[in-house]
Amino acid sequence: MLRPPMPRPLTLSARAQALQPSLTLAIAARAKALMAAGEDICSLSAGEPDFDTPAFIRQAAAEALENGHTRYGPAAGEPALRDAIATKLSQENGVPTRGEQVLVTNGGKQALYNLFQVLLGPGDELLLPAPYWLSYPELARLAGASVRLIPSSAAEGFRLDADRLEAAISPASKLLVLNSPSNPTGMVLSRPELEAIAAVLRRHPQVAVVCDEIYEFLLAPGHEHHSFAAMAPDLADRVFNVNGFAKGWAMTGWRIGWLAGPTEVVKAAIALQSQSTSNVCSFAQFGALAAIRGPRACVQAMATQFNERRSLLSEGLRAIPGLGLLPPEGAFYAFPDVSSTGLDSMSFCNRLLEEQGLAVVPGVAFGDDHCIRLSCAASNTTIEDGLARLRRFIAGL
Ligand SMILES: Cc1ncc(COP(=O)(O)O)c(C=O)c1O
Repeated sequence: MLRPPMPRPLTLSARAQALQPSLTLAIAARAKALMAAGEDICSLSAGEPDFDTPAFIRQAAAEALENGHTRYGPAAGEPALRDAIATKLSQENGVPTRGEQVLVTNGGKQALYNLFQVLLGPGDELLLPAPYWLSYPELARLAGASVRLIPSSAAEGFRLDADRLEAAISPASKLLVLNSPSNPTGMVLSRPELEAIAAVLRRHPQVAVVCDEIYEFLLAPGHEHHSFAAMAPDLADRVFNVNGFAKGWAMTGWRIGWLAGPTEVVKAAIALQSQSTSNVCSFAQFGALAAIRGPRACVQAMATQFNERRSLLSEGLRAIPGLGLLPPEGAFYAFPDVSSTGLDSMSFCNRLLEEQGLAVVPGVAFGDDHCIRLSCAASNTTIEDGLARLRRFIAGL
């Protein structure tokens, strides 16, 4: 009699085995779970605005739902939204763009995923200035590419130095990430810095650029956002723009972002999306359309509040002995250096959560083990509470 085959455990693909889950999402979820269990927890770990999506945007989506926008739509996105994004890029950012160059995605994250999948593969290298937002290296490795870090320290202002960029470029270098304003450091690239980067890239035609501008509206006073593509129109055939509605319009849960850039690559990303997730939620796209066509007053009002909170957090951090802080120039994070405590960033954050109930993110997740990331996307009371817990923790070390 034939014996049934031995059951074999399922093995994960090498790709899945190599993947690190997002530590920021994990920490925010852990803090929420502890709070739900009744623990006295303060969280400055979130990467999302604590504001509600403005009412006119919610209403536009509700109307679209009522009006029957409940079916499949084009994989690339609603034509009116693609056109409105192209108009925004052309008029607001100085980057001439046509609707066909735009793909509407499930958040900025999927825009990056799609781009990396269609552009990068084994043998290719992603050039990544560090500290970096933690998804970039994982998304590059998922595409089979390797990652070459271009480090910068707090002492250097976490700035991308053009000479260091040039030294990092190899024949395998295919794509450079520019994230300004930066998560986690809050650094904002100035016009001369962008021009210096463009000058380097002109000498290396094999290197494309993806500009992640998701924090473009969140700028500390005295700082301006410049789109790299507007600084270097001659490089338009290798510059991509990634952005989304999550941070500027307080629409994190809506999952709407975009990829814009050279038509042929965007077409490939559309084909990938058509075979993977299809269109972004139809009626949500109509909310995004109202947002992008609407006045920027709601965006500015939230940005003003973030400015106040960023100052509150930065000043509070600077007043804590033993912490080194570069004042963030944008986004809603601070990234102080805690290395004088003698703890690595993970031990620091684990102990801070256990001993003081404060959840923040270890810098090691962003490629800098000296620092921790605190978010000011929280009320003044929560920020002050967080600062008091941090002060107590450091004083007790
Ligand atoms: C730098 C950066 N880029 C992209 C994203 C992705 O945003 P979303 O997918 O929510 O649009 C985030 C979210 O935290 C981010 O910080």
